This record gives sequence, structure tokens and C-alpha cells, in this order.
Amino acid sequence: MITIGQHTLEGRVILAPMAGITDQPFRDLCVDLGASLAVSEMLTCNSELWSSRKNRTRYIHSANGSLNSIQIAGSDPYMMADAARMHEDLGADIIDINMGCPAKKVLKKAAGSALLKDVELVTQILKEVVNAVAIPVTLKIRTGWSPQSRNGVQIAKIAQDAGIQLLSVHGRTRECRFVGEVEYDTIKAVKAAVSIPVIANGDISSAHKAKQVLDYTGADGVMVGRAAQGNPWIFQQINHYLATGQNLANRPIEELRTTLLAHLEQLQALYGDFKGMLFARKHVAWYTETLPGSEHLRRRFNALNRYDEQVRELSDYFAPLLD
Ligand SMILES: Cc1cc2nc3c(=O)[nH]c(=O)nc-3n(C[C@H](O)[C@H](O)[C@H](O)COP(=O)(O)O)c2cc1C
Repeated sequence: MITIGQHTLEGRVILAPMAGITDQPFRDLCVDLGASLAVSEMLTCNSELWSSRKNRTRYIHSANGSLNSIQIAGSDPYMMADAARMHEDLGADIIDINMGCPAKKVLKKAAGSALLKDVELVTQILKEVVNAVAIPVTLKIRTGWSPQSRNGVQIAKIAQDAGIQLLSVHGRTRECRFVGEVEYDTIKAVKAAVSIPVIANGDISSAHKAKQVLDYTGADGVMVGRAAQGNPWIFQQINHYLATGQNLANRPIEELRTTLLAHLEQLQALYGDFKGMLFARKHVAWYTETLPGSEHLRRRFNALNRYDEQVRELSDYFAPLLD
């Protein structure tokens, strides 16, 4: 059982924060399909940008009553504390601090995983944010700055001492970006070094892999990112496998179709015609990746510029598959 402050999670699988992907519709969908927690896209701590349209859509809260874990990123401890306070006031249940993102935009401002180099600053940020709010604060890190300086264990202890209530660890260093194998040894060492819940992250692409990583690292849970794109069912697949040791049968194609169409409708509602239509393209590509004729569909779909055309194209595509 994973507890974060006063909250108890119902399972061991969490949706990873992914900018441009884990918006409110996708988070709610993943929770409905078995994720025990879904973390928001990262939000800058810079108050001048809080009211931009892009940022406002990023902190829209769940519509299904699930916990709102809002992720913030930045390198100024006082700005981070202010951002945490603002999200607490807006009704966030949990604040998640991002020290795990290697994105250039984030690194330029020495936030995300670049921070792992500066242990004193890390300590200060964690203390300021924890002290600023009454709600629990969680932290996401990589295993270190570079393969030569894997200071994940040191950071984990600092985090625990600062009052962080859950730690997610992506098994790559900042220098590794998304390249190369994830290593789970540092995650195992982090788990052994602290008593707060530790969540293992990185390349968990199947129920079997989730079980392997849990067994190997001893982590309390796993966090799934890219493997949920187009397959939000991965959460129930992992839950089922952990409970029974058996693989869950693939969702019927009709369920895929209705889930996808409902998802696109929500993207329209959240982003409006233009952006909703653009966002639909990447999700459709992911959902249909393993289905027959998906490449042909993708080409046709990406040439469409209106939501009603997109819906019609999908109806035509799925009709023969459902027969
Ligand atoms: C498109 C994309 C956007 C991401 N955005 C964030 C983010 O906003 N905050 C964060 O902490 N990590 C972010 N990440 C990293 C993921 O949370 C996760 O740590 C990483 O993808 C490894 O997990 P996976 O192998 O299950 O995808 C992002 C990853 C991707 C692919």
C-alpha cells in the first residue's frame, strides 16, 4: 500500500508526467483504467507565465475525482514555494517537484535534472516547498547528473530529510537523456536507503516488465510514461498481472474505438478546434500503431484539418475491423 501523506493509493502503478501528453483527459482516462495516480504536465514556477493559455490548460483538475498531483519545475526556491502555494490554493492535492527532466528548455534555466548537480540548491528548494504548503510534496529525479556522478541515493536521503513524501526515480542520468538502457541498480539502492515510498520509472513497457522491476528494485510502485501512449489499458494489464500472475486479454477493438473517440472529443473540449485537431493526430497514431492498415490511416488522418472529418475517417477505418 502506497501512502502519500493522508492519501492512500489503490494500486502500485502511476502515470508519469509527460508535457504535451498527460493533460486532464489523458490523466483521467489512465486513472479510470487503473492508474493509482496521474501526475500533471510540468508547470513553470515563473509566476509571469502562470496565466498563459498553455499553462492554464496544464493545471486543469481531474473530472473524475482522482487526486490532483501538480508538477512544478524551476530553480528558484522562493518562486517554487510560491508556485506550490498557488496550486495548493487552487485545490491541488499533491505537489510534485520535477528534478528529472532533461529538456533543453528546462536545462537552460538550470531546472529539471540539471539541478541534481547542485546539492545545496536541491536541499533549499525541497525545504522551501515542503514548508510552504500543508499538502504532501513528492519529488521526481533521475539517478544523477551523469553516469560518473550518480548521486541519486544522496538526493533521496536529502529529500526524505526535507519532508518529501514519495520519490520517483527514472533509471537514467541526465546525460543519458532517453538513450541507452535504463539501469535499475541505483533505484534499488535508493529504495534500500530511504523509508519513504520509492517509485521505479523508465522503460516499463509491459506487465511482465513491471513485475520484474518491482521484484528487482524492491520499489513500492512503478511509474509508466511512454508505454501508456495509445495504450492506457497498460495500467489494468499491470494490476491484473501483479494480482494473478496472468496476462489480461487484449481489450476488444470496439473498446479501443469508443475510448479513442471519447478521448478525441475531450481534446476538442479542452483545446478547441485547432489544437484539439492537432493533438488528435499523435494520439490516433499511437492508438492504432499495431492495427492493420495503420500507416495508411495515419497518412490520410494527418491530411485532415477538421474534427468532424477526423471522426468520419476513424468510423470508416474501424468499420471493417469491427465486422
Ligand atoms: C514527451 C515526454 C514528455 C515528458 N515530460 C515530462 C515532464 O513534464 N516532467 C517530468 O518529470 N518528466 C517528463 N518526462 C519524463 C517521463 O516522466 C519519464 O520519466 C520518462 O519518459 C521515462 O519513463 P518511460 O520510459 O516509462 O517513458 C517526459 C517524457 C516524455 C517522453
